[in-house]
Amino acid sequence: MSVRHYLMSTALGCTLGCALVLMPVCATAQTAPSPATTQAGATRDSLAPSGRWSLPERQQAKTPPMGWNSWNAFRTEVDEAKVMGAAQKLVDSGLSKLGYVYVNIDDGWWLKRRTSDGRMQIRTQIFPSAAVPGKDPSFRAYVDKVHAMGLKAGIYTDVGRNACSQAYDLHSPNLPEGTTAEREVGLYGHEQQDIDLYFKDWGFDYIKVDACGINVYGPGTAVVRDNDYTAFPPLIDQATISRTNIPAVRAMYEKVDAALKSANPDGDYILSLCNWGSADVRTWGKDVGHMWRTSGDITPNWTRMLHNFDSASTRALYAGPGGWNDPDMLFIGHGDFDANHLTEAKSHFALWAIINAPLMIGYDLREAPQSLLNIWGNADIVRVNQDPAGHQGVIAYASDDVQIIVKTLSNGKKAVALFNRGLAKADVTLTAGHLKFSDTAPVQLKNLWDKSAPHFTGDTTFSLAPRETLIFEASGQRRLTDGEFLSEIPGRINVADDGVIAPEPDPVVHRMTNQWGKTLNSGERPTYTGWGGAQADATPYDQTLQIAGQTFDTGIGILANSRLEVRNSTGGKRFEATVGIDDSTRNLKDTVTFLVYGDGKLLAQTTASFGQPAQSLSADLSGVKIVELIAKSATTSDLPLVVTWGDAALLK
Ligand code: GLA
Repeated sequence: MSVRHYLMSTALGCTLGCALVLMPVCATAQTAPSPATTQAGATRDSLAPSGRWSLPERQQAKTPPMGWNSWNAFRTEVDEAKVMGAAQKLVDSGLSKLGYVYVNIDDGWWLKRRTSDGRMQIRTQIFPSAAVPGKDPSFRAYVDKVHAMGLKAGIYTDVGRNACSQAYDLHSPNLPEGTTAEREVGLYGHEQQDIDLYFKDWGFDYIKVDACGINVYGPGTAVVRDNDYTAFPPLIDQATISRTNIPAVRAMYEKVDAALKSANPDGDYILSLCNWGSADVRTWGKDVGHMWRTSGDITPNWTRMLHNFDSASTRALYAGPGGWNDPDMLFIGHGDFDANHLTEAKSHFALWAIINAPLMIGYDLREAPQSLLNIWGNADIVRVNQDPAGHQGVIAYASDDVQIIVKTLSNGKKAVALFNRGLAKADVTLTAGHLKFSDTAPVQLKNLWDKSAPHFTGDTTFSLAPRETLIFEASGQRRLTDGEFLSEIPGRINVADDGVIAPEPDPVVHRMTNQWGKTLNSGERPTYTGWGGAQADATPYDQTLQIAGQTFDTGIGILANSRLEVRNSTGGKRFEATVGIDDSTRNLKDTVTFLVYGDGKLLAQTTASFGQPAQSLSADLSGVKIVELIAKSATTSDLPLVVTWGDAALLK
């Protein structure tokens, strides 16, 4: 986010909130800005080369977290028997051996906050092992049991005072009880105390932090009035980004992360950000947590699964080892993805796998039929998701009905998913070019569902049933025999600044139907900002990369006034690209300077204006660990300037 937008949103957030009751939050945002907000602020030029990898080196979530969560199976009607049943099944079925190790309790576990000392109390009626005679209730025994099974334990909270169930599940038997203050079970004002309790005392490994507390408890709302809650002037307006206080939301999550670091100095924790793609989290989630929701809640409906998939599938450059786009938990086993709809269930799974989504099962595993266990338990597809290189799949082809998504694996092979979104059969042609393989050498495929092993040279066509996804591992001769295209290695790229001037909703994600909504108005329009963000093999606005009429099927599309950090961990000796202003830009006036840095030192540069033919840029990378690609615009127009790093590659 640029300087201008940071200032605008800070000022706006305080216009909305500070004059009222929001002093503490705005004060947090202003007096303790995060390093990255400072980076975007006036004091530091975020385009200055850092000479290093500036994302946190995280100990956990080096591959997408996997496990089970109670929410999609039980909502707030969770209890110890259900959770332990799931844990036991993870072990007995062999799923835990595949990596499904997190057993996560979602909303519903709490009874109240004890107001004398702020200590959280557990609803021991549903978690009997938490009742300790003569002592405070504790999850220690439960967590120890989970750990003894070789699993890890996750818990749930909210970044505000109140949780989602307290607004949306009002008929639940498991809502927090007591006075207004006793029912304030969220982290707000108790961040370190709660985190210490959950991690140091109880021993949890993972926390999901929701955001209803800073979203739906506004002053004067019916839910606050009817339930006698303390109002929290919303920092998030899900329908309007300009009414969302981005720096304040980010600062609140950073405070939680700081508390987690303090409670876990060894870095052994996972922070899952759950603010549903709001507050521009699709841009900064990687700097703050191990995973971040990119959209609203998934439902067991095909169209909503598509919606959630689309919210994450265009964000490959923003994720990598230590931090993952999270399109929400799996809904396999329910509705359109139940045991009678295995085509849909398998598609849901293959799609989540290839875009490196966390794989959280959301089904009552005690009841799981073998047909569903076979889906979660497909070791080949799990391996695609868990590949250590952490390169999210990139969209190689998209139409209204068909998508081809290609993911680079650490062994030099590719995984590829052919996805039929539609209701008619589709013939889908896969080319060697989609895989960035030579089109004259044979390509060997392994079908990860039926294990068949077709091969082809040039291209091959598959007939897909409605809603079917085929997923393959592919080996062939790489088109770039002596190196790697940057768009093949998104897990080694950090978008330090994407040059977005003012966050805009992403129109690629189709509007959603909410569960309680009717067709009374024009529908809920998603405001997941990130439109104009950096893209692999496409422009920031999802066009073909093109400079002065020359198209590129590989490269990085980004806006000017951006900076990328690339790990040169495979020892590339040269950086090469063909650069220029992209033909799709609306800003025809400004010039741009492309700069290549190696470990902080300027290696190469060139300047371009609109319509000028693409120029070659080449730099010697001997001994360089971090390559930085900076595109700087000479002027400060508010019209985004689209630039293309065509054929950008690290060469051996
Ligand atoms: C929100 C989250 C869900 C779930 C519920 C619990 O809706 O997005 O994943 O945690 O709250 O109330």
